[in-house]
Amino acid sequence: MLLPIRGKGLARAAANLRREGRTPINRAMSETAPQKRLYIKTYGCQMNVYDSERMADVLAPLGYGMTDDPANADLVVLNTCHIREKATEKVYSELGQIKLMKAARAEAGHAMTIAVAGCVAQAEGEEIMRRQPAVDLVVGPQAYHQLPELIARAHRARGERLAADFAPDEKFDALPARRPAGVSAFLTVQEGCDKFCTFCVVPYTRGGEWSREPASIEAEARSLAAKGVREVTLLGQNVNAYAGEGGLAALVRRLARIEGLDRIRYTTSHPRDMDDALIAAHAEVDALMPYLHLPVQAGSDKVLKAMNRAHTAESYIRLIERIRAARPDIAISGDFIVGFPGERDADFEATLQLVREVGYASAFSFKYSRRPGTPASAMPGQVATEVADERLQRLQALLVQQQQAFNAAQAGKTLPVLFEKAGRHPGQLVGKSPYLQAVHVSAPDRMLGRIVPVRIESAARNSLAGALELESA
Ligand code: 5AD
Ligand code: SF4
Repeated sequence: MLLPIRGKGLARAAANLRREGRTPINRAMSETAPQKRLYIKTYGCQMNVYDSERMADVLAPLGYGMTDDPANADLVVLNTCHIREKATEKVYSELGQIKLMKAARAEAGHAMTIAVAGCVAQAEGEEIMRRQPAVDLVVGPQAYHQLPELIARAHRARGERLAADFAPDEKFDALPARRPAGVSAFLTVQEGCDKFCTFCVVPYTRGGEWSREPASIEAEARSLAAKGVREVTLLGQNVNAYAGEGGLAALVRRLARIEGLDRIRYTTSHPRDMDDALIAAHAEVDALMPYLHLPVQAGSDKVLKAMNRAHTAESYIRLIERIRAARPDIAISGDFIVGFPGERDADFEATLQLVREVGYASAFSFKYSRRPGTPASAMPGQVATEVADERLQRLQALLVQQQQAFNAAQAGKTLPVLFEKAGRHPGQLVGKSPYLQAVHVSAPDRMLGRIVPVRIESAARNSLAGALELESA
């Protein structure tokens, strides 16, 4: 028998758990997430009851606890059923009531987000939002894991910032700090992220992708160059999604024309925004340095899908091939996460295999860390710390080996080095190779800020050592 089951059932279950001292809200929630009230009205079959519980689970890490009073809810979900006659009309009539509650809440200075889930959502799709504009989001039964993303997008559409809901994690979230004025400077061109990787807080904390105007970036770059800056690193959480006219490739070409600005770098990029124009710029623009930080995160397609990365191991490897065809000597760097929920031994082996195929010049690797409010934090199959530790060690051993091999391969070559600062020993300067390696050289101070040919003599794990070519000494 199909019974309309009200949100009360869930609220009661939540109340029972609370009495036992096990609030469902606290299961995976951070101490920092504020309390928000969730009202779910469930129509139809047991399947929908189960789905409503799953939605409550996914939302708990964001700080949502159940309420049985829709008028006071921050989020109202109608989990609909299509099976009975006139079900759709009933949903619209219910939405009419909830719209009034939303208006009353707005008058009192509180927001309400209205979501329609279940089979009516599946059948009607966005038509629901056209017919009842008070509805903020529609989510079909296959997409409940995307609720945090959809809610964040709905909040963004209202102009809300979610930063207060999360404790930012400097390690993952922050752009590198501004370098002290010198010969190399950072220049922010883009902020925010629309990718919603399921482990990451950035789309919630930093908001949507946003790009600066090319003219204002150029003006800043010119003023940096006038102060003696020879190298800029264009910064953005998703820098290659830069949306100024012509994209990042056009921006790079524009900045490359600035007198005195001899080196351009950019970070961090997403594989799916690595377009042909940017790849071509690597082949054609001398000032664009042969170094690319292109995080892959994992080598298993199953894990990549659960991460919502929108690329496969294969598509990433093909992309690297295209980039290398344009700029054969390019140094590739990456980010990796081990111990993502559901990562099995075979998945981790696939990551090692990808690393072997790509060959990295440098890399950052992290143990998965559960970030409250992200979809992955509520995923089953969280990996034991010891297992993740062991995987991280194995991955890092391989990456270090590759980094050393990449550095060692420079020995005997002559590389242009931009001298940035004094070295640790008297008479020594430290500069950067085109591949972002630190290079230690005995050289006079007057060479600071200059790009000078250096013969590389030896390589260590994190740096190179060399000598000035005779004609520049
Ligand atoms: N756990 C582990 N690593 C993470 N990163 C982002 N979020 C997490 C997380 N929850 C890593 C990713 C990203 C880099 C900046 O930080 O690898 O590319
Ligand atoms: Fe986070 Fe980067 Fe994914 Fe955006 S693309 S969600 S910043 S890991």
